[in-house]
Amino acid sequence: MKSILFVCLGNICRSPIAEGIAKKINPQMRIESCGTGSWHVGEYPCSNSVKISALHNVDISNHKARQITKEDIKYFDYIIALDESNLNDLKAMGADNAVKLGSFGFKNEDVPDPYFFPGFEGFELVYDMINVCVKNLLDDLK
Ligand code: 4NP
Repeated sequence: MKSILFVCLGNICRSPIAEGIAKKINPQMRIESCGTGSWHVGEYPCSNSVKISALHNVDISNHKARQITKEDIKYFDYIIALDESNLNDLKAMGADNAVKLGSFGFKNEDVPDPYFFPGFEGFELVYDMINVCVKNLLDDLK
């Protein structure tokens, strides 16, 4: 069975949501997430990501952030970047097969980085974008 790796910057806001939604749709599939950066390694997801996911019955509270490795790039069949900057970083690491999540439903738009959002509202938008695109991605893989 194919494997998927979702990649954002910190692995505490966006990619854990994508991982949680995808695992709920297909619990059998090898699905992980990570960040290109190392600042938050070992941390749980940000509280608003945990909250918005829980409101949709997706539990990401046990996830712990990790940074991408060269082995990930060799191992995963699908490497999915949350925004253009993540995609560029992945390509620079040699992930020729990386694509942007937004290409599965949001006109290839970036999923905005909610880390500096002042309130909770932006997390609804981010969740909805990720939800639509992850569903379409998994439909495409069927
Ligand atoms: P994420 O959000 O990439 O969706 O996990 C971020 C989290 C932390 C930082 C940036 C983005 N940061 O710069 O620390």
